Amino acid sequence: MLMESFTRRRNCYILFLCFFVCYVTASVTYDHKAIVINGKRRILISGSIHYPRSTPQMWPDLIQKAKDGGVDVIETYVFWNGHEPSQGKYYFEDRFDLVKFIKVVQQAGLYVHLRIGPYVCAEWNFGGFPVWLKYVPGVAFRTDNEPFKAAMQKFTTKIVSIMKSENLFQSQGGPIILSQIENEYGPVEWEIGAPGKSYTKWFSQMAVGLNTGVPWVMCKQEDAPDPIIDTCNGYYCENFSPNKNYKPKMWTENWTGWYTDFGTAVPYRPAEDLAFSVARFVQNRGSYVNYYMYHGGTNFGRTSSGLFIATSYDYDAPIDEYGLISEPKWGHLRDLHKAIKQCESALVSVDPTVSWPGKNLEVHLYKTSFGACAAFLANYDTGSWAKVAFGNGHYDLPPWSISILPDCKTEVFNTAKVRAPRVHRSMTPANSAFNWQSYNEQPAFSGESGSWTANGLLEQLSQTWDKSDYLWYMTDVNISPNEGFIKNGQNPVLTAMSAGHVLHVFINGQFWGTAYGSLDNPKLTFSNSVKLRVGNNKISLLSVAVGLSNVGVHYEKWNVGVLGPVTLKGLNEGTRDLSKQKWSYKIGLKGESLNLHTTSGSSSVKWTQGSFLSKKQPLTWYKTTFNAPAGNDPLALDMSSMGKGEIWVNGQSIGRHWPAYIARGNCGSCNYAGTFTDKKCRTNCGQPTQKWYHIPRSWLNPSGNVLVVLEEWGGDPTGISLVKRT
Ligand code: GAL
Repeated sequence: MLMESFTRRRNCYILFLCFFVCYVTASVTYDHKAIVINGKRRILISGSIHYPRSTPQMWPDLIQKAKDGGVDVIETYVFWNGHEPSQGKYYFEDRFDLVKFIKVVQQAGLYVHLRIGPYVCAEWNFGGFPVWLKYVPGVAFRTDNEPFKAAMQKFTTKIVSIMKSENLFQSQGGPIILSQIENEYGPVEWEIGAPGKSYTKWFSQMAVGLNTGVPWVMCKQEDAPDPIIDTCNGYYCENFSPNKNYKPKMWTENWTGWYTDFGTAVPYRPAEDLAFSVARFVQNRGSYVNYYMYHGGTNFGRTSSGLFIATSYDYDAPIDEYGLISEPKWGHLRDLHKAIKQCESALVSVDPTVSWPGKNLEVHLYKTSFGACAAFLANYDTGSWAKVAFGNGHYDLPPWSISILPDCKTEVFNTAKVRAPRVHRSMTPANSAFNWQSYNEQPAFSGESGSWTANGLLEQLSQTWDKSDYLWYMTDVNISPNEGFIKNGQNPVLTAMSAGHVLHVFINGQFWGTAYGSLDNPKLTFSNSVKLRVGNNKISLLSVAVGLSNVGVHYEKWNVGVLGPVTLKGLNEGTRDLSKQKWSYKIGLKGESLNLHTTSGSSSVKWTQGSFLSKKQPLTWYKTTFNAPAGNDPLALDMSSMGKGEIWVNGQSIGRHWPAYIARGNCGSCNYAGTFTDKKCRTNCGQPTQKWYHIPRSWLNPSGNVLVVLEEWGGDPTGISLVKRT
C-alpha cells in the first residue's frame, strides 16, 4: 500500500518534472541546414494568412485547410495602423485580435512566423504605418531618424511584450518560431547609403535585444547582421544563399500569384510553375518555403494601399478570397508537400550530389549513411519532355518540371503532372432583386458650413489625415458680362492638375466630369470646357484618394490631391490661374459625416424610392435590406452596374468598389513552362477588374441586413445582385 502510493507520487513527480522541463527547453535555433526545433532540423512549409484580411469566424477553417494542405507554419505581418489608429490608442479586437489569431494557429498544432515589421509593404494602406506618424515633428520613415526610431521601437516592443505575456513564443512553449524585423530593407539601404546602414544596425540590435528566444529574420537584406537570418523573396529563389554559411536557406515570400490593381487585368500563376519553383528550391538545399499568399483574402474598409490596389486580395492563392480551396493549386501543392516530407530525413542530413545527365537536365541526390535516400530529377527545358535514366529506372519528365523520388526509386510526384482536380468555381444568384432607396447628396461649395479657407492649393493628406478618401477643393470665379465667350458661346476650358488619384468636377452644383490616374501614373489632369455664368461661379473639385502608397524610398512624402495648376483658358485676359487664389476646403462627404452607412445615421436624411429612385447620378447613397441566403456558401455582391464608391453591410465596410475601371492588359494564353513574371498570365481583360465584393457570412443576421452603397460616379443599383460562391 505504502509502496503503491510512493510509486504513484513518484510518477506524478516525473510527469511534473517532464512537463516543466519540456516547457522550458522548447527551443528554436538554426544551423546551415535548417531551422532546428527542439533539437530537430525541419523542412518547413509555411503559408501567409493576414488576420485582418478575413474574419475571426473564418480563421479556424482557413488554418485547418492550410494544415490539410501540408502547411506547418502560418506567416503573418503585424498591421501597425490597424492596432494604433491614433497615437497611443490601441486596438486589438475583432479582425485585429492578433493574440486570438495566433492561438487559433496554436490550437491547430501549427507554428507561427510573426513578421512584425512594423513596415510591412503588403499592399496595405501606407505600408502599415499609421498616418499620424507622418505628422510627428521631424519624422522621416525607415531611416536613421530619432522620432521614427522611437515610434518603431515602442510599437515593436509592445507587440513582443504582448506575445511574451501570452506565452506565445516557442521558447515559452508557444507557437511562434520566428520573427521578422523590417521588410525588404536591403534595396532601400542601398539607395540611401549611410543613414540606411546605421538604421539597419540600430533596428537589428533593437530586435535582438528584445530577447524573444526565437530567431529573427530579415528578408531581402544581404547585410543582415548575426544572428539574424537573411532570406529571399521572389518567384524563384533556388540561387539564393544566405550571407553566412552557418545560416539556413529560407524563402519568406514565394508569390503564389500577384496582387490586383483597379484598372489592370487580374494575375494568376499556374500551379505547375509554383510547385516547380518550390521543388527547385528544396532540391537546392532550401529548407523553409513560405507561400505569399496562402490565403490572400479581402482588403476590407479602406485598408488597401495605393496605388489603386483592388479590394480583392485573392492573389490566386491556394485558398481563394472567400476561403474555398482553389483547385488544382491547393491539391497539387498538398501532394508536393507530402512528397517533400517523405524526403525530409535525407534532406536535412546530407548535402546533395549534383549531376547533369543531359542538356537542360539535372539530378540532385541526397544519399545518407543510414539508408535514407531522396532524389530530385529536373528537366529545365521549356518545350520538350525528357527521359532521364537514373539508378535502375527511366523517368519521363514533362517540360519545366521536377520529379521527386523519396526512396531514390519511385517517382511520387512530378511538378507538372497535376492529379488534383481542375475545379471551376462560379457565382450563382442568391437573392431576388433588392428594393433600393436613394439619397442624392449635393456637392459642397465654397463657404458652406464646416469648410475653411486658405490661399492656394493644399496637399490632401495634410488636411484629411486619411480620415476620409474625400477632400473638397472649392473656389469662386467671377465672370464679367464683357467676357467674349458669353457672346460667342465658346466656353472656357477648366484645367485641373492633381497628384491623384481621382477627381470629380462640379460647376455651380452640376457634375462636369471625372478624371483618374492609374497604377503606372497616379497623377491626373482634368481638362474640359465648362459652362460659366455672368457673376459668381462655384467651382467644386472633389479629390479622392484610393489608398496611400506603401512602397518606395520615402513614400511618406508622396502627395495626394489637387496641387495645381488649376486654370481657366479662353477668357478676355487669356488664361486665368486659379491656383493661388482663395480656396475653401472640406473633408469627407455629407453622408459620411451623417453616418449614413449605419442604421441610426441613415434616418437623418429623406430617402426616395420607386420611380424617384436616383440612377446614374454622382454622389448618391443607396440602401436596402435583405435576408441572409440559406446555407454556408460564401457570399458576394455583383456590382457590375455600378461605378465607384464604398459598400457597407450592417455598418461594416466591405471595401471600395470600382467596377467601372475596366482592366487593361494582355490576356493571351499562358503556358506554365518558362520563367514566370507577374505580367505573364492574366485574366479579365476588357472586363471590370473587380465586379464581385465579398460579404463575410459572419457579418450577416438571418434577416433584416442593411446594405448601404455610396456611389460617386453614377450607377444603376437595380443591377446589383447577391451571389453565392460555389
Ligand atoms: C513584396 C513585399 C510584400 C508584398 C509583395 C507583393 O516585395 O515584401 O509585402 O508587398 O511584395 O505582393
